[in-house]
Amino acid sequence: MKVCFVSADSDNVRKVEGKAGDRLLDLAQASGQPLEGTCEGQMACSTCHVIIDADDFAKLPPAVEEEEDMLDLAAGATRYSRLACQIWLSDVFETLTVRIPSEAKNMQGR
Ligand code: FES
Repeated sequence: MKVCFVSADSDNVRKVEGKAGDRLLDLAQASGQPLEGTCEGQMACSTCHVIIDADDFAKLPPAVEEEEDMLDLAAGATRYSRLACQIWLSDVFETLTVRIPSEAKNMQGR
């Protein structure tokens, strides 16, 4: 399967290969997406905030309450927002399309 990362301004689109069980945050970071993931999945930051394509969003298991609470703190959150540290790829996706919010910054602040 593929994950399609789209920049906030849609100027950059990057497709990467993934497999069931891969964590979205790990794939994003490995492909150079500007997501910090400061707390490494402990649901204590929201620096891994992404916006999922609406059709793909419907295929994801719902966010747990702690994730919803962290998303309330994410800049630019939408109804399709999720935390990339809480999403694992599965066979329900041929391509998962993910938008990186404009507020995202990587470790170098780019
Ligand atoms: S890495 Fe901190 S909430 Fe996802």
